Amino acid sequence: MKSIRWFVAGFVVMMLFGWVIFPAILYTHEEQPLQFSHKVHSGETVGLPCQDCHRLSADGRFEGVPAIAKCAECHAEAIGSTADERLLVEEYVKKGREIPWLVYARGPQNASFPHASHLIGAGLACERCHGSQGTAESLPAFRRNRISGESQAIWGTSIAGFKMAEWDGMKMDDCARCHRERGVANTCLKCHK
Ligand code: HEC
Ligand code: HEC
Ligand code: HEC
Ligand code: HEC
Ligand code: HEC
Repeated sequence: MKSIRWFVAGFVVMMLFGWVIFPAILYTHEEQPLQFSHKVHSGETVGLPCQDCHRLSADGRFEGVPAIAKCAECHAEAIGSTADERLLVEEYVKKGREIPWLVYARGPQNASFPHASHLIGAGLACERCHGSQGTAESLPAFRRNRISGESQAIWGTSIAGFKMAEWDGMKMDDCARCHRERGVANTCLKCHK
């Protein structure tokens, strides 16, 4: 009896460590430099289309996160009265400084990802790879894996590797799986230049 009790106690401690404590210490918890609401800007209040801020330039390069000049078009002076907007106007727009956004999806430097092929060639929607970020009310904390140094979005939310949704995780396997399903060749040099 006693040994069973010890076994159960040990098992519970191990599971707690593996499923709760380890994930909690594995990732950092970094706040974005400023809060930004996609819901306010793309939803009813302002109604900007995604392409206004995240566009493909004429040469097919994806411009990513907009520069401060884009924000300055409307926020040269404060429109509302929130602390985040004050920070935006005083610290970034008026000083002409770029906002050091933390990019959740950014992967390691050694792999290249062209948005143009996926948006135009493959006809994929943003949600397929980014979930509901484009309509979210606020930006979640950025979580960096302390061992690999990568954003949590690369490995995905479950450390055991279970996918919570199709967009959860963007490891090499995740890229390659979709390519296989759609008949796109997975030669190493296509992604690793
Ligand atoms: C007013 C400009 C603006 C508009 C309009 C806008 N965004 Fe954004 N978006 C931002 C900014 C600023 C960030 C930077 C936050 C960050 O680091 O993720 C961002 C981040 C993102 C990201 C996260 C990138 C990453 O991995 O960090 C996604 C995905 C995204 N936007 C999708 C969308 C979609 C989809 C739409 C349209 C429904 C949209 N955005 C409309 C400004 C905008
Ligand atoms: C087309 C005009 C427009 C552009 C471009 C724009 N905004 Fe806004 N923004 C607004 C409006 C309108 C509001 C709502 C003001 C209010 O009622 O508080 C707002 C609100 C905000 C707020 C306060 C929201 C809150 O709840 O705290 C922040 C912060 C903000 N914007 C950041 C940004 C950033 C960062 C950019 C550039 C990536 C940007 N905005 C680009 C129009 C714009
Ligand atoms: C949901 C499906 C899907 C996912 C996920 C995906 N891809 Fe693709 N990718 C495609 C399709 C489809 C094409 C072919 C597009 C075309 O026909 O132009 C493609 C093409 C490419 C190309 C070739 C581009 C060119 O024009 O030659 C590269 C490089 C690439 N993907 C890299 C990646 C990487 C890196 C990832 C993961 C970070 C990834 N892809 C994730 C569907 C996907
Ligand atoms: C096939 C998957 C896929 C689709 C579809 C996709 N993205 Fe991405 N996105 C990625 C990946 C992967 C990265 C990281 C690229 C890197 O590491 O350089 C990324 C990065 C970004 C970034 C940050 C860029 C930076 O480095 O500053 C933004 C913003 C973004 N995507 C917005 C969008 C928007 C808006 C759409 C729809 C119009 C979209 N994405 C469609 C996979 C995708
Ligand atoms: C569809 C795009 C794609 C193709 C094809 C591809 N890779 Fe990758 N590879 C990636 C991405 C994205 C990462 C970074 C994310 C990660 O670590 O899973 C990566 C990471 C790696 C790494 C770092 C170790 C690791 O797994 O974290 C190695 C090594 C590697 N790739 C080798 C290869 C070799 C060898 C081939 C050819 C057999 C290949 N890759 C084909 C996209 C690709």
